[in-house]
Amino acid sequence: MKKISCSTYDIHINNWDAVNEYIAKGDYSSIIIIVDENTSEHCLPSIAGLLHQKFDIIEIDSGEINKDLDTCKGIWETLIDFGADRHSLCINLGGGVIGDMGGFVASTFMRGMDFIQLPTTLLSQVDASVGGKLGVDFNAYKNLIGIIKNPGAVFIFTDFLETLPEEQVRSGFAEVIKHGLIKDADAYYRDADINDFSDMDWEQLVYDSVMIKKSVTDEDPEERGLRKILNFGHTLGHAIESHNLDTATHLFHGEAIAIGMVMEAHLSFQKGKIKESEVNHIKDSIINIYGHHTDRIPDTDTLISLMSKDKKNKGGVIMFSLLEKIGIGNFNQEVSIEDIELSIGFWNA
Ligand SMILES: NC(=O)c1ccc[n+]([C@@H]2O[C@H](COP(=O)([O-])OP(=O)(O)OC[C@H]3O[C@@H](n4cnc5c(N)ncnc54)[C@H](O)[C@@H]3O)[C@@H](O)[C@H]2O)c1
Ligand SMILES: [Zn+2]
Repeated sequence: MKKISCSTYDIHINNWDAVNEYIAKGDYSSIIIIVDENTSEHCLPSIAGLLHQKFDIIEIDSGEINKDLDTCKGIWETLIDFGADRHSLCINLGGGVIGDMGGFVASTFMRGMDFIQLPTTLLSQVDASVGGKLGVDFNAYKNLIGIIKNPGAVFIFTDFLETLPEEQVRSGFAEVIKHGLIKDADAYYRDADINDFSDMDWEQLVYDSVMIKKSVTDEDPEERGLRKILNFGHTLGHAIESHNLDTATHLFHGEAIAIGMVMEAHLSFQKGKIKESEVNHIKDSIINIYGHHTDRIPDTDTLISLMSKDKKNKGGVIMFSLLEKIGIGNFNQEVSIEDIELSIGFWNA
């Protein structure tokens, strides 16, 4: 059982009592739990057995494809049907899709009702539930419509990871590796050796990783500067993820980000920031966890064109968040096309 205090809210890890204590304090007019079919099956029973108050359930279809305004409309309509009001509480029980969308729906319904996050995937426990970014995809753009608003609280239960498919655990683990690389070298060297996820002390690992994300988002909630270090691996990683979307070579987010981290570590090496032995260590660790897919990277032109759509670009210049050292991230780094070509060659070798 652990607790992390953020600027405006607390994150409780493996504390079942804390949920009821939080709800009791709020004196809510009603409670709505948002789930998808998987969290309805695997996670809702334990929460339902725990809650003292009665609640309504809104179930949506799982998957990023449903993280859109149409689904929001359905949720808003159901909230009206349930008679929810500004004094209701919304509980988002699911992965990052439910957390981002449920938080957005709650924050905009009647100008905002309280919501709490109960993240059920590794990615959402260490990353998506922390820092208040909420929203949905719009047309082809990921997370285009949204806001930054912190939840009332976050309740993480690491037992939920027991039913999470292994490939989802592995994918979420890329964010754990990222957190070590940008903020905590000791955590990185501890985590980089892990490959078997069947017998883990998740409580400690999730706690350490959340502490890193929280320290960054507390200091720069609006992403004016420091928060950008969380984008390490994601500039190239997102482009690689997009390139493999809807293809036989589909990559999970974490698998794409893992390749992106190796390539961006190599960019950091080219800038003289990290040593050759360090970038080799990162590559070997990533290959050990995710394998060595050399057929997933498009040619440089396609990669650049995909990256130029990145929301984080400024005035048409592609900006990278790289490593200053292992354990220290930086941001607003410009790189040349030649540098990117060398980093592709490094991954493929
Ligand atoms: N807000 C942020 O700061 C932030 C940060 C990173 C990612 N995100 C967002 O998070 C989303 C991805 O989140 P995700 O990886 O959690 O995906 P997800 O929410 O789609 O969950 C992955 C799958 O696991 C299932 N699932 C969830 N919990 C389960 C459990 N305990 N047992 C069995 N199955 C379970 C879900 O139903 C789904 O099929 C993306 O939309 C991304 O944009 C947001
Ligand atoms: Zn990510």
